Amino acid sequence: MIRNSIDEETTNVNIHSAEMTALLRCSYPNMSHDSISKCLVSSDGVNNTYQFIKHFNYPLLGRVISARAGFLLNESVRLLQARQYDSCISIGSGLSMLTYLISNKITREIAIFDCDVDEMLSERQKRISSVESLTNFKPQFSQNCSINIIDAYKKGTMLNELFPEIKKPLFILEGISYFLPKTVFSWLLDQIFHYDSKAVIFDYCHSAENSQCLDRLLNTLPDFLCKGDAIYPSTSLPINRLYQNFNQVKTYAMDEVDIILSEKNNETILLRDQNNYVPTKIVVAE
Ligand SMILES: C[S@@+](CC[C@H](N)C(=O)[O-])C[C@H]1O[C@@H](n2cnc3c(N)ncnc32)[C@H](O)[C@@H]1O
Repeated sequence: MIRNSIDEETTNVNIHSAEMTALLRCSYPNMSHDSISKCLVSSDGVNNTYQFIKHFNYPLLGRVISARAGFLLNESVRLLQARQYDSCISIGSGLSMLTYLISNKITREIAIFDCDVDEMLSERQKRISSVESLTNFKPQFSQNCSINIIDAYKKGTMLNELFPEIKKPLFILEGISYFLPKTVFSWLLDQIFHYDSKAVIFDYCHSAENSQCLDRLLNTLPDFLCKGDAIYPSTSLPINRLYQNFNQVKTYAMDEVDIILSEKNNETILLRDQNNYVPTKIVVAE
């Protein structure tokens, strides 16, 4: 029933990557605590995702996305509960229900924003509306904010102009660095640095380490990561500036994330050999 209504309403927006991560963040719900994002995925999205996994021989993709999702949920909730951030701003939300899960876990009132390009936001809204009646979605759990980060960079739009009431934000940039040129991603971090009080969580791919899985994807799918120039050898990330702008910066490789969450949730550790997955890192700066 959910699928039918989503399939009928699906437009031509290119939503493959968002459908894939929305589905796969629910692959290991013990790790991600998410069984809801998959409700926003069309049957085409499900088929495309499984074809992708098969074609690129990447059976651990679901584990990587679920572990990332669970880690971001835990870290966001920890930050929002322990500190006095006034908001949670997710950029590139796609079809992820992360902000909804966060809103259910925190006990403080904060402003929550889901930001994405216009077409994705309207698709997101349509799909949420179509499942709303079948679940316990709180209709107002977040505000939508339309932003194209590349356009904002080109036009010189300041990020804080979009959120005039917000003084102490937590920014979540999940799965978006891969779509942005390096200069744009650095600019985005610079925009976040402007806030006196802030935190940011993001993931990125680093090319410094060998991975047969990464090579396979790069060789067979030229647009993967390269298009956005998004492979960051750790030296080219503005790591120094992160240290200058935050009290604490921690970086976690995906195998560490998998160990932390597996131990916490009584799951078997799966991300042991990075030849079998794309090595990414998660940065938590507070
Ligand atoms: C791989 S999806 C990740 C979605 C979600 N964060 C998740 O992890 O499930 C990447 C998202 O980034 C968004 N995105 C890509 N380029 C963007 C841009 N220039 N400005 C804003 N959002 C962008 C896409 O529309 C898409 O929703």
